[in-house]
Amino acid sequence: MKLSKLFYIPFIIISSYSCSQTKSNSTNVEDGYSEVSTEPFRPQFHFTPKENWMNDPNGMVYYDGEYHLFYQYYPDGTEWGPMHWGHAISTDLVDWEEQDIKLYPDELGYIFSGSAVADHHNTAGFKTGEETPLVAIFTHHHEEKGQVQSLAYSNDKGRTWEKYEGNPVLPNPGIADFRDPKVSWHEQSEKWIMALAVKDVIHLYSSKDLKDWSLESEFGKGIGAKGGVWECPDLFELAGDDGQSKWVMFISINPGAPNGGSGTQYFTGDFDGITFTPEHQEEKWLDWGTDNYAGVTWANIPDKDGRTLFIGWMSNWDYANITPTQKWRSAMTIARELKLVRDGGENIVASLPVGEFYEMLEEVTSAESFDKDQTIALAGKKGFVISLKDISLGENESFKLVNESGENITIQFDNANQKVYLDRSQSGKVDFHEAFASVQEMPLRKKLYKINMDIVVDASSVEVFINEGMYVMTAQVFNTNPFTRFEVHLSENREGDSGMVRIYEAPAIR
Ligand code: FRU
Repeated sequence: MKLSKLFYIPFIIISSYSCSQTKSNSTNVEDGYSEVSTEPFRPQFHFTPKENWMNDPNGMVYYDGEYHLFYQYYPDGTEWGPMHWGHAISTDLVDWEEQDIKLYPDELGYIFSGSAVADHHNTAGFKTGEETPLVAIFTHHHEEKGQVQSLAYSNDKGRTWEKYEGNPVLPNPGIADFRDPKVSWHEQSEKWIMALAVKDVIHLYSSKDLKDWSLESEFGKGIGAKGGVWECPDLFELAGDDGQSKWVMFISINPGAPNGGSGTQYFTGDFDGITFTPEHQEEKWLDWGTDNYAGVTWANIPDKDGRTLFIGWMSNWDYANITPTQKWRSAMTIARELKLVRDGGENIVASLPVGEFYEMLEEVTSAESFDKDQTIALAGKKGFVISLKDISLGENESFKLVNESGENITIQFDNANQKVYLDRSQSGKVDFHEAFASVQEMPLRKKLYKINMDIVVDASSVEVFINEGMYVMTAQVFNTNPFTRFEVHLSENREGDSGMVRIYEAPAIR
């Protein structure tokens, strides 16, 4: 059906502003965020360290009701420096409690990225008490000695950690870039599998005990994006809604991402315990925005949960060290659930914010019959979600967030050219780096005449999820005051029914 003005129902407020959100507006003096929650650009519901530098998420493991998030951390400054593992714990993947630093640099070097597992069968022999040992497998980085893989373990639910006295467990074979081990248990072969980034390929190792590793295979020669060094791999099995599953290899690359600098490419395929065989040669991108890097999945999610959960570092090495925040630098993305979706014969890894986040949202406004240009007033909050459902698109439509200073972010659907653009060129502070004022481009596999879209806005980021996470763009934005308007610019030549927009207030945890 061609949209006709006759069917236009004026914009109506269906529910009014609600402040019953239990978590919102609560700042805890003890947690150290009470002061900083008013800091410019401090995210309200994304994880940031209270102070100082953070990059990659590390050691993500679930154990006994708690999600552990470790991260690359430099406690003595807001720029990258000698790396430690910082630590945060959450029971809901949104409200993170920062812990003390867990791994400090030592004579083998800085503590670079890596993973953690729950060693249920005590294969490494680290168990001392009742709890399952958590074992971290990480890269020691040393300027002269090079990069090697090492272990640390915890017998008290991740509260305290010992480094293994036999470190390193995987010495350096004379290759400078030899890092970021991601280990998982391979049920069929009853072995641990380690994916390791080695220059611009991935090496797969196996082990029975996490200490003695054998090289099984190499992946990536001659395929995928090669514009920079490969980092932070992840190999995991991912199920689709139809129950079918595929193995997925994530590889972060820097530089060489489609919109410049850092990004995460992936391949879908099969894994037999030795070799990963991709079903395509050309890389796919998990997220087309500039700011989702080094993300990997959580280990040890219980079968009864069954989700594949992910978090990424919401920055880009192009400008990560000079973003305009003060006490701290960098946030994580919202935690996301990954799903395998078939789209036109292709296997796609879709990502959406976790359900726990949606449960915390409070609806404040909604507009129906979304079939002409309109402006929706926003409450001027730092954190909110705009959820668009069943919106009919023509050849060229745009959606714009604008604040009182005229700073804006535009999401433009160019169906004629099968592209979506995210324009942050006038989004506020953009001049700290020449690459920042970018218009980011995402190709569409086909024209999209009907969309659902969730736009997750926090104090210094926007995450765009189109059609249940089949297309994703994540970008930092440094608008100097909150957005107060959501503008919808629609073309005349759209077919189909009108849709619905809902605005939600997001939890203000920080
Ligand atoms: C990715 C990365 C990793 C490395 C870590 C160092 O952002 O470069 O390859 O382990 O950061 O902080």
